[in-house]
Amino acid sequence: MERVEIIQKTAVFMARNFESEGSGHDWFHIDRVRHSALHIGHIEGSDLFITEMGALLHDLDDWKLTETESHFPAKAQKWLADMGVEAEDTILILNIIEDVSYQGAGTETPVRSLEAAVVQDADRLDAMGAIGIARTFAYGGYKSRLIYDPAVAPVMHADFQSYKSSTAPTINHFFEKLLLLKDRMNTATAKSIAQQRHRFMENYLEQFFNEWEAKK
Ligand code: NI
Repeated sequence: MERVEIIQKTAVFMARNFESEGSGHDWFHIDRVRHSALHIGHIEGSDLFITEMGALLHDLDDWKLTETESHFPAKAQKWLADMGVEAEDTILILNIIEDVSYQGAGTETPVRSLEAAVVQDADRLDAMGAIGIARTFAYGGYKSRLIYDPAVAPVMHADFQSYKSSTAPTINHFFEKLLLLKDRMNTATAKSIAQQRHRFMENYLEQFFNEWEAKK
């Protein structure tokens, strides 16, 4: 199968699977990450087929959305086999999917390739700024979390298990993840996009806490 066709079929497959996903990891998120990864990858010189396929499939086996304990992206592997993607490319794409996920403030998530660096950056950029804020509250609602509780302080999760099992209010997530992302970007292109989104989130939080205090 031609690469163009593989990408097109993969996009249709992901759109069908994620069209009514309610936690902020819907098809529009995947499509934004795909286009942002292509933009960054074009500038940074990554292989665009591997980059685009990694971006399209990055949430198919995500630990936040599936019940499995395994980190191996089995569904993505099956899809790539169905598409007849070469073994070498399959390994590169599966490595991206494994490398992308944020696992808490204290856990390093090193990437194994430029393509993984690009997709990780694109995914993290979508967790920042106005869209990042919207997605964060969507995810909090999906997990039945409070918006904010002044009695619950943010925690810098030292390991993945404690991050994964957190039930803290959504505002804490800004301090435990979102505000840390600008310093965790891999590429220069993403670092510069992240600056403005970071400032927007800081302004948002300032306004949020002003309103919270004003209710008293
Ligand atoms: Ni994602």
